[in-house]
Amino acid sequence: MRHTVSIALDDRSYSIEIGAGLMSDPATFAGLPQASVAVVVSNATVAPLYAQRLQHTLAARFKTVHLVTLPDGEQFKTWETLNTIFDALLQNNCDRKTVLFALGGGVVGDMTGFAAASYMRGVPFVQVPTTLLAQVDSSVGGKTGINHPLGKNMVGAFYQPQLVVCDLDTLQTLPAREISAGLAEIIKYGPIADMAFFEWLESHVHALRSGDAKALAYAVQRSCEIKAWVVGQDEREAGLRAILNFGHTFGHAIEAGLGYGKWLHGEAVGCGMVMAAHLSHALGLVDSAFVERLTRLISAAGLPIQAPVLDGKDNAGKYLELMQVDKKAHAGEIRFILIDGPGKACIRAADASVVRQVIARCCSA
Ligand code: NAD
Ligand code: GLY
Repeated sequence: MRHTVSIALDDRSYSIEIGAGLMSDPATFAGLPQASVAVVVSNATVAPLYAQRLQHTLAARFKTVHLVTLPDGEQFKTWETLNTIFDALLQNNCDRKTVLFALGGGVVGDMTGFAAASYMRGVPFVQVPTTLLAQVDSSVGGKTGINHPLGKNMVGAFYQPQLVVCDLDTLQTLPAREISAGLAEIIKYGPIADMAFFEWLESHVHALRSGDAKALAYAVQRSCEIKAWVVGQDEREAGLRAILNFGHTFGHAIEAGLGYGKWLHGEAVGCGMVMAAHLSHALGLVDSAFVERLTRLISAAGLPIQAPVLDGKDNAGKYLELMQVDKKAHAGEIRFILIDGPGKACIRAADASVVRQVIARCCSA
């Protein structure tokens, strides 16, 4: 069974196809622009599992299908790795009509999207996400980029794909830890937009963790619907789209502070949501029962709920320093996505003293 979620962005509109076996079905790619060359960008883990399958399907439509294999890991989401994509495109005489296919998780998707945005000032690209996190979040909405040693995702572009293909079969080979990481980005949609979905997650979290195909299909579909609804109103994050960063301000500090790749992005976001919920409570926006409920679900998803110590001498100071390098910060003031009553998010600054207390509490819980 195939579900289509549409993302409405004028001439940049596209569909997100969700279903089992989509990668092997030539009909999935039938609406793409006519071109003779396709380049599949993947990594050393995903390519051996799925590149041949995708290349075989694409061979029905493209005369030549190249494969570029990147090293695997968040620590390789860098200029150096990005440049290897450009090297391959130039060595293979790829022109402006060449279509790039991002086959992998969010790291491959973000880097391939950025390469597509900038190669010859823009070539078409397709997201073929193979992690739960990428299927429910990173492949949708056109945020592309790489990390900088001083901040996560600090260099990049908004650049929409032509199509997103969520082949649910790929989730079967995903390690349990990565399923949990994906659940973090799924859970986030509840408190910010849809408490009915949150309730559904509370009763299906174990099914999702054990790979129940029906539950996973619904979770991917509902997440993509919510994300498409948000991005359709605010493509370039002038306002509303920032709510999708619930948990990310603290989470990005954890990732950068520990060193990229130590905690998975989804793990950092899961713990970051616990911290943001505590901050929401400290500012009088939600009651403690809500904080406990969210913490319970994040823990049930197999995610960490205790924040790591980033600096033995001035831990809160280290978090504050890292959180200042955040795209939501204005003139050095850190702004947080907080929960303003279950199901509704807001963006707010907070006194450093309150943030320090929350960090101290969450790091010692
Ligand atoms: P990832 O891309 O590192 O993938 C996780 C791991 O799973 C990797 O080792 C990968 O090789 C492996 N893998 C991928 N698919 C597999 C499969 N089907 N079977 C077995 N192994 C598989 O991590 P991720 O969690 O997918 O993405 C995290 C990245 O996404 C971060 O860099 C984050 O900043 C970014 N992100 C971007 C957005 C956005 O809107 N662009 C949103 C959220 C996250
Ligand atoms: N993952 C946050 C966003 O796409 O805006």
